[in-house]
Order: sequence, then C-alpha cells, then structure tokens
Amino acid sequence: MQKAQIGLIGLGVMGANLALNIAEKGFRIAVYNRTSEKTDAFVAEAGELAENIIGCSSLEELANAIEKPRPIILMVQAGEAVDQQIEALKDIIDADDIIIDAGNANFRDTRRRMEALRDSGPRFIGMGVSGGEEGARHGPSIMVGGPREAYDHIKPVLQAIAARYKGEACEAWLGSDGAGHFVKTIHNGIEYADMQMIAEIYGIMRDGAGMAPAEIGKIFERWNKGRLNSYLIEITAKVLGVTDDKTGKPIVDIIVDRAGQKGTGRWSAIESQSLGIPATAIEAAVAARSLSAMKDLRIKAEERFKIETGSIETLDDARIAMLEDALLAGKVIAYAQGFAVMTAASEEFGWDLPLAEVARIWRAGCIIRSQFLDEIASAYEAETEKTDLLMTDAFSDLISRTQGALRKTVAESAVAGLPVPALASALGHFDQFRLGRGTANLIQAQRDFFGAHSFERFDAPGAHHGNWS
Ligand code: ATR
Repeated sequence: MQKAQIGLIGLGVMGANLALNIAEKGFRIAVYNRTSEKTDAFVAEAGELAENIIGCSSLEELANAIEKPRPIILMVQAGEAVDQQIEALKDIIDADDIIIDAGNANFRDTRRRMEALRDSGPRFIGMGVSGGEEGARHGPSIMVGGPREAYDHIKPVLQAIAARYKGEACEAWLGSDGAGHFVKTIHNGIEYADMQMIAEIYGIMRDGAGMAPAEIGKIFERWNKGRLNSYLIEITAKVLGVTDDKTGKPIVDIIVDRAGQKGTGRWSAIESQSLGIPATAIEAAVAARSLSAMKDLRIKAEERFKIETGSIETLDDARIAMLEDALLAGKVIAYAQGFAVMTAASEEFGWDLPLAEVARIWRAGCIIRSQFLDEIASAYEAETEKTDLLMTDAFSDLISRTQGALRKTVAESAVAGLPVPALASALGHFDQFRLGRGTANLIQAQRDFFGAHSFERFDAPGAHHGNWS
C-alpha cells in the first residue's frame, strides 16, 4: 500500500478537522486515536477523502504507514497527554522523524520537550493552530516554532492547508523552540482584549443607552464595513441578531453572563508580567472574565451597593462614531501591548520573531483576523528598527485621531457607572506612555525613604539618597 506523507494522533474535534483538511489537499495521511472506535468512525465518515486516509489501530501501525522521515502531528489534549504520546513514540520512531505538537501547549512545556529530545531525537516542532474547528477544517492560521529544517520538510503540507489572505498562506516559521506556541498564546491574549472591549461597548449601548440586541447588532454590522472590519465584529453583529428558539428572545439575553477561559489569556498576562512588559488591556480582559465567573458575589454586591447605573446621551450618529473610534483606539493599544510582549520575548528567548510576518499570518484563518492586521504588517514593514506599534507612523496617526473618543467614552462610562475595564486600562497605558514626565519620581522617593533603594537625580549622575529624617 502506498505510504502516507504525514501522520496525526488524536481525532478529537480539532484533530479530525485538520486531518480532513490535509486529506482534502491531496496528501495521504495516517491517523491514530487512543480510542480506536473514533478512528474507525472517522474513516467511515470521511467519504471520498477516505482514499487519502489510512486508519491505524496502534502507534506501530501508524509509524509503519508513513514515509520516512515521518512527520507526525499530535493533536491530543494539552499537558500530560502530549508527554505520554512523545514517550510512547520515542521508542517506535527514528531520530530524524518529526513530532509536531499542534495543541494549545504552554510554550514553556514546548521548550522543555524540545530540550529533552534535542540529543536523542525525534525532532520536535511546537505549532500553534488558530481558527477553531472551522479553521482546522478549511484553513487555520499556523504559527511554527522549532528546528528550521524540520519545518522545511512539512512546509508543503502547511502551505496547502493554511488559510489564505489574498492568496498568501497564513503559516510561517517564527523561530526556534517555543516561538510558535508563544505567538499563539499572545494571539489568544489579544483575542481576549479584543472580545472584552467589544463587550464593553455593547454594555454601554445596552445599559447606558437602553438599546436592544438587534439594534446594537445593526451598528456592529455597519462597523464591520469600516476600519473595525474583522471576524470578531462580524460574528458579534450576527450573534446579536439571533433569537432563541425556545423563548423567542434575543439569544444573548438568555445566556448567563459568566465567561469561561481555558488558560491561554492568563498565560499571556503571566508572560507579559514575567518579561516586565505592560499588557494591561489583556490583563484587564483576563480579570474581567474571572470577575464574570463570580456571579453570586456580583449579585450580592449589587444588592449591597445599590448604585444606579446612569444613562448616557442618546446615541446619535456622532456618538456612534465616537464609540467606533474609542473601540478602534482601545484595540490599537491592546495590539501594541501584545506586540511589545512578543518583541521582549523574542529578545529574551533568542527567537528574532518577525513581527510583520506574525501580523501577516493572523490576517486570515484565526479568530482575530482582520484587515487591521494587514495595516499592522505594513506598519512593521515600513520600520527599519523594532519599535512600539504606537510609534509607527501609521498607528501614531490613528491613535492621535481616536484617543479623544476613547477618553470621552471612558470618562462618560466612569461617571455613569458602566464598567469598561479593558478600555480604561488601554487609555491609562496610553496616557502614561505618552508623557515624558511621569510620577515615578515619587515612587523612587518612597522606595528610598523606606528601603534606602536610592534614586537618580536630573542634575547629577550616580545613585543618591534623600535626607529623609
Ligand atoms: P475534543 O477536541 O473533541 O474536545 P479532547 O478531549 O480535547 O477532544 O481530546 C482530544 C484528543 O486527545 C482526543 O483524540 C483524545 O483521545 P480519546 O478520543 O481517546 O479520548 C486525545 N487524548 C486525550 N488524552 C490522551 C492521552 N492521555 N493519550 C492519548 N490521547 C489522548
């Protein structure tokens, strides 16, 4: 029997869709799942694609079914399952075979795994895959980290299965070891911030202006034709227009306001803190999900504080335009923070992350896909040195134009008692960022007062102490 060009372990939702995508692009793929009924069902349901699929009932069978050097994608639950599969594969495959972990791994685990396999093999790749079930099936955004030559071997498959933006495949090798999984993590952190800011604007319209979901949906639909054009705005507009089958009410009104999270947003906040890079909009979005989960406490707090939420002025066209600009400004700042975290990580871990390329492969396939990312790619291409996104010509113009709207939106929301934690954090960041003279002189004085930590003076070099007594 003709051998497969690639293998895949783990036929859960993501694995099964990725395998179908690969088979559809004309590659022969061998698949294995711990529970073999799933493998049988998968092959049986693959229709005409089944001719490109070899169902295997053991890892040995899988290994024997693939041409050497064997690339094998792992799409099992992140964490221990990945370590178990690597252990099991190690005894079966060769040193120059390639294990590709395509799950949502923490990049620190990817670095550890790669280090452990460095001398003995097999070769290891950490690959971030974004776009959910639909992306996996029809074209995800793919972020690769690991040995370059191992990537080169699987590149034709990745090129074929990735999403396309104006014909360009949204996949790239971004650097060694955990670079791909790190970039995927920051992608998710930015996604949290983007979603939270959209939800905050929805909250202003719902609670401040008393608008119905369908009306709000119409505004998002309009915004989707402008600068905010993106997948998240598009689905927000759609979601707001959907009616619940059971009750006939707008579906968002019967969904409990308690958000889940699987951890990648939190990891981005943790990593930004570890690197000493402010990513406050992302942090605020993660925290907002955490607070959303404390529903019982929030209900009690509402009873205790009994603070009336004020209404805001009726949303005429000018005010709708203001909210649009505010969302755009908040978004720019959140993305700037995410890219700054990647810049710092790139230096810390020696990756030399190509920021324009990162923006390019996020233009399609992934959840934050948008034309905005095309603008970020162009902004980074135009810069000769790595700089903060807010300092690039294109985005400094944009933020200068929209910051007033963000300021007004945050101020009015604060007065009305409408929570806008991510937008407010973004604004706070921008206001500190843009001021040459801040207030850390006082922090330094306090530190010197209680801990003799010393301070620098404007008028003399070296470390100084105050005469605090
Ligand atoms: P889904 O993507 O459908 O939500 P999941 O629970 O995240 O599924 O699991 C994804 C894949 O990881 C499944 O193929 C699962 O195998 P089973 O079908 O046998 O459950 C696989 N998986 C989870 N833990 C595993 C382990 N320790 N070893 C091997 N495969 C494992």
